[in-house]
Amino acid sequence: MMEIMERISLYPYNTMGIAAQAQRFLWIDNVSDLQQFFLQKKPEEKWLLLGGGSNILFIDDFPGTIVKMNIQHRSFREMDDYHTVVSAGAGESWPAFVAWTLEQGLGGLENLSLIPGEVGAAPIQNIGAYGLEVKDRLLFLEAFDVKTGKVVKIEARQCGFGYRSSHFKGKWKNRYIITKVYFRLTHQHHKINTSYGAIESELTHIELPTIQDIADAVIRIRRSKLPDPKDLANTGSFFKNPVISSEKLHSLQQDYPNIPAYPTADDQKKVPAAWLIHQCGWKVKRMGTVGCYEKQPLVIVNYGGATGAEVWAFAQKVQQSVQEQFGILLEPEVNLIP
Ligand code: EPU
Repeated sequence: MMEIMERISLYPYNTMGIAAQAQRFLWIDNVSDLQQFFLQKKPEEKWLLLGGGSNILFIDDFPGTIVKMNIQHRSFREMDDYHTVVSAGAGESWPAFVAWTLEQGLGGLENLSLIPGEVGAAPIQNIGAYGLEVKDRLLFLEAFDVKTGKVVKIEARQCGFGYRSSHFKGKWKNRYIITKVYFRLTHQHHKINTSYGAIESELTHIELPTIQDIADAVIRIRRSKLPDPKDLANTGSFFKNPVISSEKLHSLQQDYPNIPAYPTADDQKKVPAAWLIHQCGWKVKRMGTVGCYEKQPLVIVNYGGATGAEVWAFAQKVQQSVQEQFGILLEPEVNLIP
């Protein structure tokens, strides 16, 4: 039987450590919990699906129901001589799930080791790191359709994946709740993705790296650059890396000959937001209990006790100074909950 709790602190449920309050709070252990919730929900009642809370900023208290994903499930089945299909419940911890696939000898997700969050959230923003995005391994997923109350199967190619984006963040927002995700992994590993510069340099001493070697390298790099939310509250990259036109880059190069930029598939240029923020002098700055992480200024940290509004005010200052100095508007990567 579904039990909706009242006035719950969201502090344990978001890695930014914001002590916002939810008016109501409901754990979702299976699809039937979702069905029951939406059957009894009043039309005006606000709701928000919450996964691991590692990419969300509660600017204020939430005046509705937090629907906390907790669907657990893991299984796998060989598809052919090389491939294994692995499925996971949306509420599984992403880093624990990736570590488990590696323990089973399954390759494909090693570059995405140690990313905080849950399996069901991974496709929403198409998580990516070290030369791989989750879309590259996703086969299909199952999602609860809020409109019809039924579970539908959605193929990877239908999801509209892009850099940190998908239809789940766009036109399908509040329509589908991802309940289970299917990945195409390998039990015979032919292609190992070591092309990303930082991984290559971590692995120079190993001639034939295994999938576990890659995972270990990724874990070492992440630990050296990114704060563990358990020690220092944060939500990873706060902004996306902006994509600008070649002309815009060319004009910036007149004043900043060292500006780093990477070509995108559609012939534009991706500039590291961390570099822009660093140039604006934010690396060592701190306002009260909020600041930029010293080793990676794209990560905004809460030193303890900051409110969501304070974090957002700080982020807007960063955004403003990058806009003034470079004429580039940084777009938040985290989900802002007003
Ligand atoms: N940089 C600086 N100063 C610094 C740190 C970095 O100028 O103090 C510049 C350097 O030019 C560096 C560049 O920023 O080469 C890029 O930094 P990094 O390699 O750390 O990667 P990123 O582009 O900032 C992206 C993802 C991360 C992901 C890493 C590794 C986005 C928004 N972020 O960060 O994802 O882990 O690449 O692949 O695309 C996340 O999304 O939450 C996240 C952590």
